[in-house]
Parts: sequence; C-alpha cells; structure tokens
Amino acid sequence: METAYERLLLSAQKEASDKGETIKDTPYRLGFHISAPANWINDPNGLIQFKGEYHVFYQFHPFSEKWGPMYWGHVKSKDLVHWEQLPIALAPFEDYDRDGCFSGSAVEHDGKMGLIYTGNVWLDDQQQELKQVQCLAWSTDGVNFTKDCSNPVLSRIPEEGSSHFRDPKVWKHESSWYMVLGTKKNELGKVLLYQSDDLQNWKYEGVLAENKEENLGFMWECPDFFELGGRHVLLISPEGMEQEGTEYVNLKQTGYFTGEFSYETMQYKHGQFFELDKGHDFYAAQTFLDDTGRRILIAWMDMWEQEMPSQEDGWAGALTIPRVLSLDKEGRLLMHPVAELDSLRKEKTVSVKEYAIENELVIGSADMAEIAAEFRVDDPGVRAFGVKVRCGDGEETVLTIVPDECKLVLDRENSGKGPGGGLREAKLSQVKSVSLRIFLDRSSIEVFADGGACVLTSRIFPSSDSLGIKLFAEGGTVNVQSAEVWTL
Ligand code: FRU
Repeated sequence: METAYERLLLSAQKEASDKGETIKDTPYRLGFHISAPANWINDPNGLIQFKGEYHVFYQFHPFSEKWGPMYWGHVKSKDLVHWEQLPIALAPFEDYDRDGCFSGSAVEHDGKMGLIYTGNVWLDDQQQELKQVQCLAWSTDGVNFTKDCSNPVLSRIPEEGSSHFRDPKVWKHESSWYMVLGTKKNELGKVLLYQSDDLQNWKYEGVLAENKEENLGFMWECPDFFELGGRHVLLISPEGMEQEGTEYVNLKQTGYFTGEFSYETMQYKHGQFFELDKGHDFYAAQTFLDDTGRRILIAWMDMWEQEMPSQEDGWAGALTIPRVLSLDKEGRLLMHPVAELDSLRKEKTVSVKEYAIENELVIGSADMAEIAAEFRVDDPGVRAFGVKVRCGDGEETVLTIVPDECKLVLDRENSGKGPGGGLREAKLSQVKSVSLRIFLDRSSIEVFADGGACVLTSRIFPSSDSLGIKLFAEGGTVNVQSAEVWTL
C-alpha cells in the first residue's frame, strides 16, 4: 500500500515528467546544464559524491514554472557533465516542513546519504511570518529518502538569530559534525555555527560571521564554509546589499570572505567581502569536495524577481556548469570549469592562428559552443575588442574588453527577449594579452577570463536563428593569437 507521502512524490514527479515531454524541444531548453524536466527550480542543494557518483539536488516546484512550496529535485552523474534525472527526493508534507523543504546540504554517514534541510512553515496567508526548522532525511540507495523520525532536529533559534533561520551546510571535521546556518538580527545578516556528534543533537557554538552595519545585507542565505589552500572560505548569499558603482549590481549577490578559523576557539577572522561572479545570474552557490580533492562549486544560474522568458514555455531556472575553486596569492577565489567538460566537444569548427583584425571576423555559428580566444594588443589606438555571440537580426550578446579601463563588459541589452538589465562588468588584471573561455548554451553564457579571477554568468534568450559568433576590434588592430570554436 502506498502511503499518502509516496502518492504525493509520485504525482509531483508525474506532473513534471509529463510536462517535460511536451516542452523538451522548446528553444531555450539547455543542452548541458542541470535544469528540471519542467517547471521551476532555484538553489542547488546537497552536492555530494556518493558511492562514486555525483549527486546534485535542487529547489524545485514541480507543479508550476513559478516558485511555490519547495521540493528537492535530484540528478546524478558519473562525470559532472551528463546528468540523469532521478525521482524527487523530498516533498513538503509534515507539520514541520509543510510549506517547503528549503535549501540544505548532504553528508555520507555509515554508508547512508543524509540530507539536512530547512522545513518552512508559513504562519500567515501573506507569507510574511514564518517558522523555519532544520530536518534530516536518509537514504541507503541514494535515490529514496525517508525523513528522520526525530525531526525537526533543530528548532530553537539562538538569541543572535531570527525566525529566518535556514540553509544548513554540514561537514565533518575529525570525528565531529559542524553546521553553518544563515540568519539575521535587527536586519543584519549573520552566519551561525553549530557542532554535533550524531547529526541529531546540535550545540550552538556562536556567530561565525556577521554584518557589522556595513553594506553586507539584511539576511545571509545559503552559507558554505570550507578549507581551501590553507585558508577558510565563507561563502554567503546576502540579500539587501546596496549597489556601489559597478559592484553588487544584481538584486542579490553571492560572495565570500577568506580568513583563519580555529576549531579550538571556534573563532573566524576574515578579510573583506568579494563578489564571486560578476554576471547577471549567479546566486546561492554551494560547494563539495570530490574524491580527487577538488572543491567544486555549482550555483543557481538565475536571479530572483527577474523576467524569465522560458516561463512562457513552462519552465524556469538552471544551475551553472561545475567549477573548480582555488585561491590566488592575494586570497581571491578563482573558478575554472571542470576538466570533464572537454568531453562535450563535438567538432572543432574553427581554428584561427595569428590573425590581425581591425573590424570584425566571423568565426562560427552555434547555439551550444565552447569558444576559446586569445588576444594580444600592441596598438595603443585600440578602444575596444572582444567577442560577440548569438548574433542575428538585431540581436547580439557582446563581451567587450576596454583597454583604457582594464575591464571586461558583458552586454545583454540586445541579447533577445527580456530580462534586459544591460551591462555587467569585471576588472581585469591586465589587457595586453587576454584569454577568454566561453560556454554557450541555448539560453546562457558563462565567461571565464583572467585565470579564473574574472567570471561572468548570465541568462540570455535570443531567437533560435541568432547563431553568429564574431571577434571584433575598434580603433586599431588586435592580434588574435588563437581562436577556437567547438560545437557542443
Ligand atoms: C535562496 C533561498 C534560500 C531558501 C530557498 C527557498 O535562493 O531563498 O534561502 O532556502 O531559496 O527556495
């Protein structure tokens, strides 16, 4: 006999899969990014390598292309490139999570996979007042999950928090479990730290980091805390930061601190906050450590409260390609696409070597491509140069390097349908010799430059016949040392 909970899981799954069949050939559907078969997704959750396979969960509303009561969708992969959809892992159902299984993380314990997530309950019809508690669910096969009967495992909010108390990230250090949680107090974002011996009983250890009345937002969502290159990185997604020039331009940001943490004193000393990705669409990033020791990051490749043209086709939301993190000498995070993505390359359609451009050079035509271009600039007259993609009738997405200002600008003003939002820009360390690596999917662009220090991720919604890829130079001659295009 099926339980009522199993029936809910099955009907949600069926709803999304059936709709998925009808929308799979719509033009914005992505070719190599994680998204749901249909309907809405947001944050990546529970990134883990379990029994040799990579698992990624995501915030999922299986009944609509708009956000609603959150489920956990689930995909897995052997290579971080080809993802298989699995049955929905969690559904909101119990008194403690009835309005949503919010974001969280995954651990391996005694051969089982454990999910730690936030149970969300609205206390009023306007969804203003809420109760958030932390919950556990277990699986032996990595596919079917049972909620722990001791749920919620953490519901007491310490004085330093508020009822916004969510997005647990759990990790093991020596023989103890640790957890960071996002919260706020007096409209200042905070991250709280907990310790546990058994994942069920949690001891509050204090505030790990907080907004001390700077421009760091009123709520810190989706924290992640990990060691990298001998330093400790705290990744957060603050809500409510004010734009400062070309910084913090999106509605919400994802960024990080680096510093030193002691498990003896539980104190974290950190430096300043840096935004991690300067594109229009990057939020709620999470990481995990794989068995080769790589710290791999995946983020939601969209932004809250923004026009999402794919909703007309019955879906919204996707996750970025996986990126390997490292730290540079100054303690800044670098992001590199995982090497496994090379296996997506189908055909090298173009290879240009040592070619001088003064104007434009068409180098390809594709909606799914990897583009690698290396420029050298000796002519002081050059005002701008770069790459244009998804070019068509009145449409183009433009990546411009501006030598005088030592910056890279991504312009999606004429990319196609909404969401608009114009320019995003990032500083480059130098502009004499610039390498760009670009991953284009049918409705996204991810740009990696400056050795991974400069990354921009954005959604674009061009018409399906805007396919042109061009290099360009303005004001002088730019030497294209090499340019390669692979269809994916
Ligand atoms: C971040 C977030 C999380 C929350 C989830 C709900 O995008 O708001 O704080 O757990 O999304 O879907």
